[in-house]
Amino acid sequence: MESIISVREVFKTFRQPKRFPGPGGAVRSIFSRDFTEVRAVSGISFDIAAGEAVGYLGPNGAGKSTMIKMMTGILVPTSGTLTVLGRTPHQERMINAGEIGVVFGQRSQLWWDLPVSDSFSLHRRIYDIPDARYAENLSYLSAMLAMNSYLDRPVRQLSLGQRMRAEIAMALLHDPKVLFLDEPTIGLDVVARTRCANFFRR
Ligand SMILES: Nc1ncnc2c1ncn2[C@@H]1O[C@H](COP(=O)(O)OP(=O)(O)OP(=O)(O)O)[C@@H](O)[C@H]1O
Ligand SMILES: [Mg+2]
Repeated sequence: MESIISVREVFKTFRQPKRFPGPGGAVRSIFSRDFTEVRAVSGISFDIAAGEAVGYLGPNGAGKSTMIKMMTGILVPTSGTLTVLGRTPHQERMINAGEIGVVFGQRSQLWWDLPVSDSFSLHRRIYDIPDARYAENLSYLSAMLAMNSYLDRPVRQLSLGQRMRAEIAMALLHDPKVLFLDEPTIGLDVVARTRCANFFRR
C-alpha cells in the first residue's frame, strides 16, 4: 500500500545557550558561547498507509511530541527526510496545514474568552471552508460529540471534557486527510476516554 506519511532516519537536536545561575548570570548567558544539546529524536523511520490508525508510544521525553511537531511543519528536522501526503511539511507549511488536523492535549486552540462557536467561525475563515461543507461538518460533529448544549458558551466556562471535545471537533472541521493527536484524552475520565476512542474509530 502507498504510504501517506514517510519518515526516514529523522534526527532532531535542540541547541540551547547555557544558562548561568545567580546575579550576573543572565548577562553572562547572553555573552556565553556555550551550548547544551538535547537530542530529542534519534534516527526514526516509519511509514503510515492511508486508512491506518497508528499509536506512537514511549516514555516521557522520548521525543513523541517533537516528532508530531516535525510532521505538522512546526519544527524542522536536523537531518533525515520526512514527507506527509508527498510534501515536506516545514517547506510547504501552509499547504500541509490545510490538509492535516492536529490536537495537542496540552495546549488549547480555542479562544478562552469567546464562545466555542466563535472559535469555529474563525477556523472556518482561516481554512476557507465552503459554507455548505462547514454547516454539514459542524452539525455532524456537534451531534457525534454531544456539543450542542455548550457551543454558545465561553471556553473558560467549560469542563475539561467539554473543552477537549470542542478541540477535537475544531481539528476536523476542514476535512483533514490526516489527523495527529498528541495526548488528546489527557485529564479525561474513563467514560470520556472511551467515548473519544469510539469516536476516533468511527
Ligand atoms: N523546544 C525545546 N528546546 C529544547 N529541548 C526540547 C524542546 N522541546 C523538547 N525538548 C526536549 O526534547 C526531548 C523530547 O521532548 P518531547 O516533548 O518530544 O517528548 P515526549 O515524548 O512528547 O514526552 P511526554 O510523554 O512527556 O509528552 C525532551 O528531552 C525535551 O526536554
Ligand atoms: Mg509529548
